[in-house]
Amino acid sequence: MNIIYPGSFDPVTNGHLDLIKRASEFFGSVTVAILNNPNKTPLFSLEERKELLELSTKDLLNVTVDTFSGLLVDYMDEIETYIVLRGLRAVSDYENEMRNALANNSLDNRVETLFMVSKTEYTFLSSSLVKEIASYNGKIDNLVPKAVEIALKNKYR
Ligand code: PNS
Repeated sequence: MNIIYPGSFDPVTNGHLDLIKRASEFFGSVTVAILNNPNKTPLFSLEERKELLELSTKDLLNVTVDTFSGLLVDYMDEIETYIVLRGLRAVSDYENEMRNALANNSLDNRVETLFMVSKTEYTFLSSSLVKEIASYNGKIDNLVPKAVEIALKNKYR
């Protein structure tokens, strides 16, 4: 069975990768779906985010990376996948995730959301935190894959 892992991935972090790896072990395949959100100005373009995810997941043979615009449920219908994977880092994630899961299910009642708890070492980790640290030239090598570390250094050079 395929599961979809949607997100902004601006950029992908080790926390995202840990979830992707764990999900790829018990789902037949994982589609990582990057949202093309016209209301946000990301640091990395859609193409850059896709390339960084592809590089970081190249050893996981049942993982594919794609992009989508508009409603997640419409994209899910297009690729005929009805399970969403989302990570929970802390209680603070719960409210928003619960709202999204309920909204998606009310838009399409075939859509279910599965939550995986992040490893403790990643509970503080987010793309925005990584960007902030990188913008001040801080150490991020333990937070993101090598390709992302290099890409961030180039952005903030
Ligand atoms: O990495 P993020 O920014 O927390 O991911 C949020 C995402 C992309 C999963 C969510 O915003 C989403 O699915 N957006 C698509 C638009 C949509 O379907 N919204 C309605 C209910 S979530």
